Amino acid sequence: MKNSPSEIGIDHMALYVPGPYLSLDDLAAARGVDPNKYSVGIGIRETAIATPAEDVVVLAANAGQRVLKEAGVSPDDVGLLVVGTESAEDKSKPTATHVHELLDIGKSCRVYDVVHACAGATYGVLNAIDWLHNSTHKYALVIASDIARYGKNEAGEPTQGAGAVAMLLSRQPRLIGLNEISTFSKNVYDFWKPLDQKYPLVDGIYSARCYAEAAEACFAGQDLQENAAYIYHTPYPKLVQQTHMQVARMIAGDVDIKNHFKDKVGPSLQLAARIGNIYTGSMWLALMSFLEANLSEPAEDSDGCYLFSYGSGCGAALLRGRLSPAWKEQVGLFGAEATLDARTRLAFDEYETLMDIYENPESISADDLAATTVNGSFRYLGTEKNKRRYGAA
Ligand code: HMG
Repeated sequence: MKNSPSEIGIDHMALYVPGPYLSLDDLAAARGVDPNKYSVGIGIRETAIATPAEDVVVLAANAGQRVLKEAGVSPDDVGLLVVGTESAEDKSKPTATHVHELLDIGKSCRVYDVVHACAGATYGVLNAIDWLHNSTHKYALVIASDIARYGKNEAGEPTQGAGAVAMLLSRQPRLIGLNEISTFSKNVYDFWKPLDQKYPLVDGIYSARCYAEAAEACFAGQDLQENAAYIYHTPYPKLVQQTHMQVARMIAGDVDIKNHFKDKVGPSLQLAARIGNIYTGSMWLALMSFLEANLSEPAEDSDGCYLFSYGSGCGAALLRGRLSPAWKEQVGLFGAEATLDARTRLAFDEYETLMDIYENPESISADDLAATTVNGSFRYLGTEKNKRRYGAA
């Protein structure tokens, strides 16, 4: 199913991940856990760890700069900038205001954040699609940026992660056209972050049940195409596998569910297995993963994809994606696997030190902060008079 010229969607996307990562074999050894629990039971092998010079502004700005550069789009042509995040450093001042300045986007751009747990960026994308229907501007930039931390020795620790996915939306997109086909909302306490808590509170097993209920509600009644890819919010790959076993039963005909998962879902989980959960960016990372993994496949007509987004609390949306004729040219620029291959493996005590600094940000000296290297062009410089400062790395 190809994109018709009038559809709105993603013209290009780019990933930013921090340079260091933790091997979950090292985490398992330190926590006295069988490593198969993480690699097989949960499905994650490595998690991205943000440095003290990286917060959600830095992740977002570095991803945003990359997407504009690769797409060959001037910041002046961006009329809407939305950051989806649930790890902001400020309860009022939007993360997007810093990103707006760092990317040198014009003053006539509308700039704001969207918060809805892991669904924030998806709702930002849906806002951008509505906005593009009426705007005279050429592009909207939506950036999903999050740092997922659960704390040492917590059940969620192996599912931590950090990263940003920047998406440039346009009419006649070169990558993928999108539209929402169903939605689901319900007030639940499955995962939440009271303002006075450093880490989220999680009802782990219940959260997986809420996710499954939302998926079932979103996929029910759809005329599901067997040949489409199925892309899911991926807090950890095993949950996606379990959910797809249920969703695949809703596809008409005699579907070999195990093989369907392997071909139509499996490639979407490769990047998450090496990064962990990046909350708002997670489903979009899964899309990048699927497309990059299929780059060497023949460029035949496909049935596009379904995209299931879930945010705790909870809200979910199911989107239909249709690949544009030139999708391979855009995906050829991703280089996501290569970026991950170039990262540095942390020693376990280095990981614990980074967690300690997150818990006590004042414990790092100005010199040590300045000496911390960053994977991209922008970094956090420190806080003066309660104002966070950012600049060139
Ligand atoms: P846990 O205590 O590690 O769970 O917490 P477990 O002991 O049941 O083990 C997990 C799986 O590993 C099980 O498989 C075990 O059998 C298996 P399952 O029963 O599910 O098939 N296992 C092994 N497999 C192979 N070899 C072994 C072995 N040992 C055990 N030796 C939990 C797991 C996911 C609950 C925890 O990591 C957690 O709390 N995570 C955070 C919450 C979360 O990710 N929830 C997902 C749904 S909610 C959501 O997606 C929203 C979210 O992204 C936030 C947002 O929206 O902002 C989280």
